[in-house]
Parts: sequence; C-alpha cells; structure tokens
Amino acid sequence: MSAPNPTGLLVRNLAREYPTRGEPLRVLRDVNLALARGDALAIMGPSGSGKSTLLHILGALDRPTRGEVIINGRNPFALDEPALAAFRNREIGFVFQEHYLLPQCSVLENVLVPTIVTAADDNCEARARRLIERIGLAGRLDHRPAELSGGERQRVAIARALINRPTLLLCDEPTGNLDRKTAQAVADVVIEMAAAESATLIVVTHSLELAARFARRMELVDGQLEERDL
Ligand SMILES: Nc1ncnc2c1ncn2[C@@H]1O[C@H](COP(=O)(O)OP(=O)(O)OP(=O)(O)O)[C@@H](O)[C@H]1O
Ligand SMILES: [Mg+2]
Repeated sequence: MSAPNPTGLLVRNLAREYPTRGEPLRVLRDVNLALARGDALAIMGPSGSGKSTLLHILGALDRPTRGEVIINGRNPFALDEPALAAFRNREIGFVFQEHYLLPQCSVLENVLVPTIVTAADDNCEARARRLIERIGLAGRLDHRPAELSGGERQRVAIARALINRPTLLLCDEPTGNLDRKTAQAVADVVIEMAAAESATLIVVTHSLELAARFARRMELVDGQLEERDL
C-alpha cells in the first residue's frame, strides 16, 4: 500500500488476541493511529487495558493478530526475522518500565549495546559520550547499573534507546517507579531528546501530570484508542 505519512507511524485496524483455553482474550480490538515524524503522544488507560501489548507491537517486538503497522512507509511484519531485527535496531528505540540494563556492563557500555549489531561507525562512542553528558551522567561513565539510582538507570535506558538515532521512540511507563521530582527530570530528558532527534515519541503513562505535557493524548478503552482532553 502507499502510506500517506511515509516518515511517520500508521496503524490500521490493529487487533491482538491472546489464545486461551476458551474464547480468545481480545486485548486490542481495532486500534487506529496516524503520527507524523516528530509528533509526540501520551497513551493512558487502566491497568490491563493493553498499553504494553500495543507498545510491543508498535516496537515490532510482538506481532498483531490482524491489522497493519507502517513505520516510515514499511511494514515490519512483512520482513523476515533477520531483516526485522535490523529494522527494529535501526528505526526503533524502546524504553521498558524495567530498565533491562546489562548488570555487568558500565553506563558507557550499556548505551553502546545497540551499536554492536549495526554496522557501527567510529563515531558511536563519541555519540554515546555526548548522550550520557546530556542525560547528566558524565560523572558516572564507569558505574555499573547496581551503582546507580533508579532515575539514573532509567536515563541510561533512554540514552541506549536513542544511540542509533531511532525515528520512533517508545516508552512504557518510563517514570512509573520514580518519585515525583525524579519522574519530572526523566520526563524532561525523554521529551527534550526525542524533539532534538526529531523522533516520533509515544509514552505510556498513568501520570496525568506527565500526560499533560503532551499536545496529543489518547486513552486505550475497550481495545480502541480514543482522543482525550484533560
Ligand atoms: N502473553 C500473554 N498471554 C495472555 N494474556 C496476556 C499476555 N500478555 C498480556 N496479557 C493480558 O492482556 C491484557 C493487557 O495486558 P497489558 O500488559 O498490555 O496491559 P497494560 O495496559 O500494559 O497494563 P499495566 O498498566 O498494568 O501495565 C491483560 O489483561 C493481561 O492479562
Ligand atoms: Mg503495561
């Protein structure tokens, strides 16, 4: 198909069902969404409404039961597994609620992990150092994750998500486990850095305070996305 927003994100009639012994569990029924490159969106919704399920599909980490996802004009699910992994690594940055940093690696090494499998150029390390400086951790380059605070770990995960200059940055409750002040600082980093990189940004959050900082907000209700005013 010809995508109307070839450098953004297009989701059409997306459904995700989980098989059970009885009727399938219909978590996402009919999700539709169009974002241009650089748009920023907050997604809200009660626990269990399918926010993580949706984000994993948009990040090409899980496949939909039905429907279409077009990222920068390409359908990632039409790719074979190696091409899909390369596409994901190049185009998508993912910040999980749990940071999933490698415990034995330093801050610098963790940020560089996504560059290992790409045809990394010599500038990777310089870029990693710049990103680490921008997240305020230049003094923590050699720390292991266990030697960082929760907010610092989350900032490292953000830098790691940005190292390959993704066009789509997906964050699943990036501030969910943090105190209010740290949550604000981490949200600042996500929003500022996505804007600086012209990445399309989607943040899943339970926080009205964080959602209020986005021009566009949607709520996942009965397996569908609805526009929300605060
Ligand atoms: N692998 C799976 N197999 C079966 N059911 C699943 C699976 N993953 C999630 N579910 C179910 O799908 C529903 C949506 O889960 P999901 O994790 O997407 O919710 P969520 O909106 O992210 O919730 P929270 O705010 O608590 O993180 C839940 O009811 C969950 O039990
Ligand atoms: Mg979730």
